[in-house]
Amino acid sequence: MSDPHSDVQLVSDEGMRLDGRALDELRPIRIEAGVLERADGSCYLEWGSNKVLVGVYGPREVHPKHMQNPLKGIVQARYNMAAFSVSERKRPGPDRRAVEISKITSEALECVVLTDQFPRTTVDVYIEVLEASAGTRCAGLTAASVALADAGIPMKDLVVALASGKINGKLALDLGKAEDNFGEADVPFAIVPRTGEVVLLQMDGHLTKEEFETILEMNVRAAAQVYELQKQALVKRYSAYAEPAPGEEQAAQPVQAVVASGSPERFHEPKIAAPPPTDVVVDEILEAVEATTPAAPGEEPDVNADEDEAEGGDI
Ligand code: CDP
Repeated sequence: MSDPHSDVQLVSDEGMRLDGRALDELRPIRIEAGVLERADGSCYLEWGSNKVLVGVYGPREVHPKHMQNPLKGIVQARYNMAAFSVSERKRPGPDRRAVEISKITSEALECVVLTDQFPRTTVDVYIEVLEASAGTRCAGLTAASVALADAGIPMKDLVVALASGKINGKLALDLGKAEDNFGEADVPFAIVPRTGEVVLLQMDGHLTKEEFETILEMNVRAAAQVYELQKQALVKRYSAYAEPAPGEEQAAQPVQAVVASGSPERFHEPKIAAPPPTDVVVDEILEAVEATTPAAPGEEPDVNADEDEAEGGDI
């Protein structure tokens, strides 16, 4: 969102985006669970040109000990972008943006991990962005929830995250790099599909209430498609441990369980239990946003002031 008034053409007259997608189309997604030998759980995810690797360790003892909570465990996510993940070398080490993304990711994951089952411990989630092309916080969070499930951490559900926005005056699902840079608005969002809880909601740029509502609906609908891919990755992963039938030899299982949408074609509608009705979820989100962001008279609410501030010096 570097230049909200950019005249860069991101959508053709036919409604086609720079990478050939329609406005309501996700980038290709590939999810693989259990890719690291030494981590307790892991996930590799490709989302468009994003490449993200997540390793999970724990539950294990908290250090420093004063951070221990006698009533529940904690989830500590660390988001890191590799120096080679973007075209201009990124200075290694945490910057304000990484600290912010680590924080919102930890908070989103704590909403689904049943932390009361392992007090005094920590679950550490290392998110390494190997290649970055917009939407990496969402890709990292989506992959992290799969890695947690792969580690056998008790959870109430997975988390699906994605970011949609506004480009050349049109609402678009799952923004790509140029769209993120030159578009008018970007709404990173994460949902717990089983319960409809929203565990991450940010906004960069400006949208009308109606546009915001439509984007939420788009995100909720697309999240169901990503959720299906996450579940398939875990099913493949655990099917490697399936007991052989009596008298039947254990078939050699591939170590890697690749689940891919992979193809640049549009996703098909998933065959999964329907999430809560979109309008109900969206109404709840709007109520919560209105309740928490009272606008001063004559002033538009800025739901993402911290994000703007954090991003300012980093990109
Ligand atoms: O990645 P995400 O959209 O969650 O976060 P962002 O702060 O909106 O960054 C958008 C994109 O800008 C990233 O995905 C990277 O491709 C790029 N970026 C970069 O080139 N250098 C940085 N230091 C940070 C981000």
